[in-house]
Amino acid sequence: MPREELEAILLVGGKGTRLRPLTLSAPKPLLPTAGVPFLRHQFARAAAAGVTHLVLATSYRAEMFRAAFGDGSALGLSIDYVYEEVALGTGGGIRNAASLLRSGPDDPVVILNGDVLSGHDLGAQLDVHRKAEAAVTLHLVEVPDPAAFGCVPTDAAGRVTAFLEKTPHPVTNQINAGCYVFTRSVIDAIPAGRVVSVERETFPGLIGSGQTVMGYVETAYWLDLGTPAAFVQGSSDLVQGKLASPALPGPVGPYLALPGATVADGATVDGGTTVGARAHIEAGAEVHGSVLFDGARVGAGAVVRDSVLGAGAQIAEGAVIDTAVIGDRAVIGSGNELAKGVRVWPDVRLDPTSIRFSSDA
Ligand code: GDD
Ligand code: MG
Repeated sequence: MPREELEAILLVGGKGTRLRPLTLSAPKPLLPTAGVPFLRHQFARAAAAGVTHLVLATSYRAEMFRAAFGDGSALGLSIDYVYEEVALGTGGGIRNAASLLRSGPDDPVVILNGDVLSGHDLGAQLDVHRKAEAAVTLHLVEVPDPAAFGCVPTDAAGRVTAFLEKTPHPVTNQINAGCYVFTRSVIDAIPAGRVVSVERETFPGLIGSGQTVMGYVETAYWLDLGTPAAFVQGSSDLVQGKLASPALPGPVGPYLALPGATVADGATVDGGTTVGARAHIEAGAEVHGSVLFDGARVGAGAVVRDSVLGAGAQIAEGAVIDTAVIGDRAVIGSGNELAKGVRVWPDVRLDPTSIRFSSDA
């Protein structure tokens, strides 16, 4: 295929357990992030780098992906879907998706983890890959907590010397950023029909057998949105323009209001908050750095900070929500204070704290 016809596989089969209860109703890559399904931001950045054909490797809630994006033509892309009845792991998912690739054996294929926001230069990563005639080229970034990621040391020439997935004893702060360029024939060599982890099996195997695995180090904006705190941060960073996204459905600013959203005079809304379609914030409320899904409501004088309010969730007047995840349609009565990592399941009702028992004096 012509060089400009670049293909990508998106790994979107994970269950997103760390983002429950939000991921009970939608898979992580479809959660509304700065007003659009998260993948729209990845699609837009991939398209800008020349990707024209995408294969989505789905498993958990697979049917929702095609419903969201169809054949991709509305986005100027060609999108195909493959399904794993039993999740095959990252390598098994890539191998399964290869059946729908159009590239020849020597062509580069881009692989993206479906939960990473990255501002790095994919074209420059592809250049490193082609120049080194590598089997695989990994985007690498430095983070303060490498034990939570794939630890990836490189030598002076940029060649990867080891791949240590989630090791308690990282040898460097340099980690796998979840964007790979694979030479097509290397994908076809992954065993088919069984669970394979690229991180635990494919990468260590390639390195051990002396194949060229390159690191492409770039310290642009990078964030894995796998936890509630990171999800909220990624969304508000997009709204504030800290990472430019062609998919942002409005101007960059202190907050983004989707169609039908209402913010009353005298409410304070900032920090990159998204106010979902038909969501409503009343006078005197304060909403900082949060994500309000469609139809969420925040009452007068309530405070919502660094939190996610699911679709139709209601925060009554005077309640305080800090670093919390409130499930779809849950109702938090007035006077409640929820902080630091609290998660409220969908449809739960927390009554007003002012309720009194007859035995109370
Ligand atoms: N199709 C498919 N099948 N996709 C899967 C499967 C599977 O069985 N398992 C996971 N995925 C997808 C997830 O949906 C996600 O988009 C991506 O693969 C990575 O899975 P995570 O569960 O988010 O992994 P992680 O964040 O703990 O670690 C990975 O990403 C880090 C960077 O963000 C690893 O690749 C680390 O090495 C890396 O540092
Ligand atoms: Mg992740």
